[in-house]
Amino acid sequence: MLSHELLISIAQKFGTPVIVYNEDLIRQTMRDFIQTFKSDFFATKILYASKAFLCQHMAQLALDENFCFDAVSGAEVDLLARVGVKAEQIYFHGNNKTPRELQEFLQLGRGQIVIDNIDELNLLISTAQKLQKTADILIRVNPGIDAHTHAYITTACKDSKFGISIAEADAIAAIIEKINQSKLLSFKGFHAHIGSQIFQQAAFTAEIETMVDFIATMRNQYQIKTEQLDLGGGFAIHYTDSDAPIPIRQLCRDLIKKLESALKAKKLTLSHVIIEPGRSIVGAAACTLYTVGSLKKTETIEYAFIDGGMSDNIRPALYQAEYSCTNISQAKAPLDHSYDIAGKCCESGDILIHQAKLPKTQRGDILKVNSTGAYGYSMASNYNRLGRPPVIFVKDGVPKCVLRREDYDDMLALECRNN
Ligand code: LLP
Repeated sequence: MLSHELLISIAQKFGTPVIVYNEDLIRQTMRDFIQTFKSDFFATKILYASKAFLCQHMAQLALDENFCFDAVSGAEVDLLARVGVKAEQIYFHGNNKTPRELQEFLQLGRGQIVIDNIDELNLLISTAQKLQKTADILIRVNPGIDAHTHAYITTACKDSKFGISIAEADAIAAIIEKINQSKLLSFKGFHAHIGSQIFQQAAFTAEIETMVDFIATMRNQYQIKTEQLDLGGGFAIHYTDSDAPIPIRQLCRDLIKKLESALKAKKLTLSHVIIEPGRSIVGAAACTLYTVGSLKKTETIEYAFIDGGMSDNIRPALYQAEYSCTNISQAKAPLDHSYDIAGKCCESGDILIHQAKLPKTQRGDILKVNSTGAYGYSMASNYNRLGRPPVIFVKDGVPKCVLRREDYDDMLALECRNN
């Protein structure tokens, strides 16, 4: 936990809104994953899902902690390469990788490409042929598991845009045949990701059972050997007091046990098992500090307006995501007021928190919104030409700016007329 004094000094030095990460907590969480997601029966790899939050400092940190990476775009791959991540440490995902993205990734070295569909495979085969480059291939399958989370962030229900249904075993076997015929590509295994912010361990154990059964079917009916199984990410974090996520160490140990016994039951071995946490690495490790501006009462609502909003955190507007907050300028005062915390964007839906319990709040108070580290900055926009906030990493109590505030000039930088 970063102290309120430290956070207030950061707000004073860097201005608000500002996103503050606790680097020590990120490193500790990464170590929890590395220490507990391991087995005597197969090697494990933990990929940081870059989409949750990425900058060079973050990539370097994950690299230091022995993480590999999940990337979904050319620019994510480019950033990773710039800090020295090798192709073999990257799993390249996405349902519509462009010709340029495939070319660049192949040119980086022999990495892993997670194929989403047959059309993409055809493009990859011709690109690899042209460049005479090699890659290891996983196939993204849809195991059809309904993880009870928001509809926009579940990915493995029927008709999802991601992957190929495991019900289509013949088609998948034909795809693998095609991969292996290409000589430059080598089939390694399967990938599934069933959604995000998943609380129920049962959803992950169902995923494991389904995938292991599927791998056994591929072996028994098609003589296909699977080396790698990638189970995706999706582990839930704490946003508000109604959230009770399973602690990471416990979850990892349970999933490993489940996997070991499922593999044993089918007499299967794997060389690698992979997971791809994003939110659970960075989500709870950051907060956003805002300054309260105007306060306003309507007939039934008391509003506290803040100097950011849906431009730096679209999640409440997009997913009805809930957050908690603290008025750190008056941390000791009784929580006897209730405010709707509204952003400054021209959009009625720009309410970060409904009915936040706070002390009587005044203009100039610093409001800390908790658990904003995942999918906040990475989904931020310049709506109303608001600049993205700076990002500060605190390590051993020392703040360091890793992304500066986006200012008026930055937003003009893309203009093609120079006057
Ligand atoms: N692997 C794959 C293939 C994914 O698609 C994702 C997330 C992850 C791993 C990491 O999942 P995590 O551990 O972070 O849950 N913008 C949404 C979340 C979208 C997740 C997209 N894929 C949100 O703000 O809730």
